[in-house]
Amino acid sequence: MNIFEKLESNVRSYSRSFPVVFTRAKMSKMYAEDGREYLDFFNGAGALNYGHNNDYIKAKIIEYIAGDGISHALDMYTAAKAGFLEAFEEKILGPKGLNYKIMSCGPTGTNAVEAALKLARKNTGRMGIFALTGSFHGMTLGSLSVTSGKTVRRGAGVPMPYVTFVPHPNGFCGDSIAYMENIITDEYSGVDVPAAIIIETTQAEGGVQVASNEFLQRLRDLCDRYGIMLIVDDIQVGCGRGGGFFSFERAGIVPDMVVLSKSISGYGLPMSLLLMEPEYDIFAPAEHNGTFRGNQLAFVGARAALEYREMAGLESRVAENDRLISDFIASRLLPMDGRLAHRGIGMIHGVDFEKLGDVSGKVARECFKNGLIIERAGRNDCVLKLMPALTIERDELYAGLEIIERAMKKVLAEL
Ligand SMILES: Cc1ncc(COP(=O)(O)O)c(C=O)c1O
Repeated sequence: MNIFEKLESNVRSYSRSFPVVFTRAKMSKMYAEDGREYLDFFNGAGALNYGHNNDYIKAKIIEYIAGDGISHALDMYTAAKAGFLEAFEEKILGPKGLNYKIMSCGPTGTNAVEAALKLARKNTGRMGIFALTGSFHGMTLGSLSVTSGKTVRRGAGVPMPYVTFVPHPNGFCGDSIAYMENIITDEYSGVDVPAAIIIETTQAEGGVQVASNEFLQRLRDLCDRYGIMLIVDDIQVGCGRGGGFFSFERAGIVPDMVVLSKSISGYGLPMSLLLMEPEYDIFAPAEHNGTFRGNQLAFVGARAALEYREMAGLESRVAENDRLISDFIASRLLPMDGRLAHRGIGMIHGVDFEKLGDVSGKVARECFKNGLIIERAGRNDCVLKLMPALTIERDELYAGLEIIERAMKKVLAEL
């Protein structure tokens, strides 16, 4: 028995899918202690959009540490924070005409979701929240309350009230917007107008479910008409993953609040942010507090990542890779079986094996045997989720796609 199995809790999960000991990583590759090299299509669940140990970002962080830069400062004013805020304003908010105030939350995404839900309730004086079926927003009680997976919800051990799940538009036989409007206006529905609706514009853990621009625009309109706050959870599909820096840009909407984490620090360091329209910035000082709000190294990395993003022209690379991945899936993977489906946007794509039964796990395991790290998502984990770093080289991208192709051929031939 290794030290992990001996001492680590049973709750560990990714180590079960990828049971090797990793020692090093560079951009799109991870290396195990036995010397094996793996291509990474999992990408820290979206926390490593700029690749592992990106040289540009690493140099800025090393320089900061070597100069004895502040490493911990709660939410005091620091040069590292100022550097990030200035870059975020100059490169993201300003050019996009967004006027958000920025709140540093506890280190992980779930804490920013908690802050958003609290702030929506405080602003509106209402308690209810609408979330979509298939959603994933985190594991602490508030964010778990708006997460739809029943297994993880059972882990709460207590009721999680004041949340109404509404059908995600994909695969729903009706009109989700009309449904929401119906239940908030029908005196006999038992459902009050909520404080907020929280949505991932593309559900990642939910199986790569892309909400259409039209749906997002109608949702914005519904929120406007009923005074409901629209919260976009951009923790996994923001920071360029979906194309633009924010995933909602494609729909031309402006959410009342946005939560960011994962790749915002650029280097896989813990950091999360809540962005809000200034009129909603009503927390009293320290009302949402935390020792690790504002990781200084993450601020340095985040600034460097915004610089790198521009220098490397990542937005156009994502658009190009989107086409390459989509073409490959359409021409080489889907023809293998008429029951396969593809969904995706930017550099998050899913191959859906739902109609073939219990197959995706076998494909993912076969990929790993052949040197590709890839995860699954969606109901029964039936969707193979392709999420390479935005910086991946063309030959690496093809190499990874071809590993998937070979794995699928092998597994489907054995069905
Ligand atoms: C969309 C979304 N929201 C929230 C979270 C929670 O973030 P964290 O795991 O950092 O708490 C995740 C994590 O996967 C996520 O994908």
